[in-house]
Amino acid sequence: MHRDGIATSHPPRHEGALRRYEKLFIGGEWVAPIDGGFIDSIDPATGKPWAVVAYGGPQDIDRAVQAARAAFEGPWGRMPGWERAALLLRLADVYQKHASELAVLESRDSGRALRDARVDVGSHHQWYRWYASLADKLSGRTIPMDDSVHVYTTRLPVGVVGAIVPWNVPLMAATWKLAPALAAGCTVVLKPAEQTPVTALELARLIEEAGFPPGVVNVVPGYGHEAGAALVAHEGVDKIAFTGEGNTAKDILRTGAESLKRFTFELGGKAPHIIFADADLEQALNAATGSAWTLCGQSCALGSRVLVERPVYDQVVEAFAQRASRVRVGMPLDEATHMGPQAHQAQLDKTLSYIDIGVSEGAQLVTGGKRLDEPALADGYFVAPTVFAGVNNQMRIAREEIFGPVAALIPFDGEDEAIAIANDTRYGLTAGLWSRDVGRCHRVAARIDAGMVWVNTYRYIRWSTPYGGMKASGWGRENGLEALDSFLETRTTIVSTTGKFPDAYAQ
Ligand code: NAI
Ligand code: MG
Repeated sequence: MHRDGIATSHPPRHEGALRRYEKLFIGGEWVAPIDGGFIDSIDPATGKPWAVVAYGGPQDIDRAVQAARAAFEGPWGRMPGWERAALLLRLADVYQKHASELAVLESRDSGRALRDARVDVGSHHQWYRWYASLADKLSGRTIPMDDSVHVYTTRLPVGVVGAIVPWNVPLMAATWKLAPALAAGCTVVLKPAEQTPVTALELARLIEEAGFPPGVVNVVPGYGHEAGAALVAHEGVDKIAFTGEGNTAKDILRTGAESLKRFTFELGGKAPHIIFADADLEQALNAATGSAWTLCGQSCALGSRVLVERPVYDQVVEAFAQRASRVRVGMPLDEATHMGPQAHQAQLDKTLSYIDIGVSEGAQLVTGGKRLDEPALADGYFVAPTVFAGVNNQMRIAREEIFGPVAALIPFDGEDEAIAIANDTRYGLTAGLWSRDVGRCHRVAARIDAGMVWVNTYRYIRWSTPYGGMKASGWGRENGLEALDSFLETRTTIVSTTGKFPDAYAQ
């Protein structure tokens, strides 16, 4: 990401055809930044700018929060749930209609392979549909007490939500927040990552096309320490829904503490993907190798620690090496490409440094382990699919989130050791296990400290399946009824059936 220095009122001039996004989406209007400017969005496959995008500063964030607040206190706040549902369904339709263009743009902006972006982005409309189906069913409960009172609860939206999303899966992270927030009746200021701002602005166009009232969704690209921090500090924001790094979450907690906001955090992972010797190895390998390099390793859900029972360890190492050689690394928009580049330079540097760390820790580099330097790819941030064998769980490559296409294969003996290694991590987001013994599947699944455990499958995630982390992997859940809950408050109303109240000072 090239920063253009001080905020400018005009976009920088570039040779060639760049996509231009010269406005922010605030209060239902496209407006120029007040104290932001314009940034180049880099195509990670070429290392060159492909779009110029307006970004906002604290004053722009303030405008957006005010617009969100006005919408919350205005027509949106008074709109019945079934009308919100109708708008969400319209959004689902326009999203579905534009999904293939969105996938191409996401592929350009983040570098993920188009074939992968298509499947993911092509499913997002289901989130809007499913949460639409809940928007008019936010009922409370009646609570039986005694006949002197009638007690009931009502569900209310938490208010204005700041949604802060990362660069690995920009549209998915936005969708997971927007759909339940809007169903709950909240309004949203969405701040995409500075590295991948484009598709959030395209999403704003869809919000417009769907006909949401002004201010319900506002989109302000910007830097984390400026726009992000301003959103977190803002008194007018009731909740922050964040996906990203743990250290950023700690900053957000500190800044947001001042206004006692609500928070949900979707943070990192170091998922154990456990392969027992009695597994259907072919299927286990499909899952484990598929999830090792998908998204160039840039997802918190991927099985970056592959735990393999010793009798099949050598066989699995060999199969990983063999499958790595079949991964077509290339230009993201090429239909044949399985794996694109890392999404930005800093992530490339981080991955390469962890590969060096792995080697210096004494792990055995089986394949990959380098930036790709053939002429067609040399300017992009491409890394070869990488496999380390002989890894033990104390090594940094087994403990720290790399976010690159690096599989660490760790041997184990028996169930207890598998569980001990699986849980010996600060993270607790996802886990997978493969075995033909159904009893073992249940035994092991029940002992893994993770918010999501997949048995004889991997990365099965839907709108209705709660997703989120234990331990340092996060707070709260996205997807499912749990996500809706996180955007709601509960009010308990107690009505006396007698209207009689004793005089405390009568005697
Ligand atoms: P990050 O946490 O810094 O960025 C995520 C989002 O937070 C971006 O929109 C950014 O602008 C915003 N942000 C940054 N600082 C902020 C602040 N002080 N206040 C408010 N918002 C702020 O993640 P980063 O640095 O881009 O990635 C570093 C590492 O984090 C990756 O290598 C990976 O290990 C992990 N990560 C995990 C993700 C996940 O899906 N769980 C997603 C992205 C990164
Ligand atoms: Mg950061």
